[in-house]
Amino acid sequence: MLLGVNIDHVATLRNARGGVEPDVIKAAEICEANGGTSITTHLREDRRHIKDEDVYTLIKTIKTKLNLEMAMADDIQKIAQEIKPYSICLVPEKRQEITTEGGLDVAGQKEKVTTFIKPLLDAGIIVSLFIDPDENQVRASAKTGAQFIEMHTGSYSEAYGKDNEEKEFLALKNAAKLAQSLGLKVNAGHGLNYENVHRMHEIDGLYELNIGHSIISRAVFTGLPEAVRKMAYLIK
Ligand code: PXP
Repeated sequence: MLLGVNIDHVATLRNARGGVEPDVIKAAEICEANGGTSITTHLREDRRHIKDEDVYTLIKTIKTKLNLEMAMADDIQKIAQEIKPYSICLVPEKRQEITTEGGLDVAGQKEKVTTFIKPLLDAGIIVSLFIDPDENQVRASAKTGAQFIEMHTGSYSEAYGKDNEEKEFLALKNAAKLAQSLGLKVNAGHGLNYENVHRMHEIDGLYELNIGHSIISRAVFTGLPEAVRKMAYLIK
């Protein structure tokens, strides 16, 4: 299982002062040098953390793979077509949310998603759809042309250690199995941390985990190299 490190919060911290520290490009380098197999960034419509300049530089400096999270927005689609990241992950986006709160409703807008991702697929970019671990969403995703789904692990992460942990975990396990049977590859992420990540090993064939908040939070105390190394070790 691979580790994609989401570096958005390095940019959040930088933007708090409006300067250049901490350096997002340097952060990506450190993540790659310590076990991160790809770098994930979410270019949000309001550009609250990662900015256009960041992705234009990252695409030149990253040695592993850039995974660009994005909503169905035409201006960001254009940027993706221009820079050609290794992959994009299509996410829903609400301006007011603090983080991506739920999965993309692919079942409710299958044609729109299919049309939106086509030029990206035609450009050779791998497309992943960030969805809740729900049968209808998985089945709809399999019909769009996307090669991957990323399962939203937020509900599992919140349920970890509580009565509903098993229910939320089973939803992930079943969704992954169904997705793979329909020819999709499966990633997962959101809310995963150093305590709850171990159960991802119980899900057969998971390809990559995308993890941000817990790694950057730990890095405040231990430094980024250790925080990435420890997570890479845990998922290995
Ligand atoms: N995957 C996707 C699609 C996300 O939107 C996010 C949050 O930006 C993550 C993974 C990482 O979530 P977390 O920061 O909680 O680890």
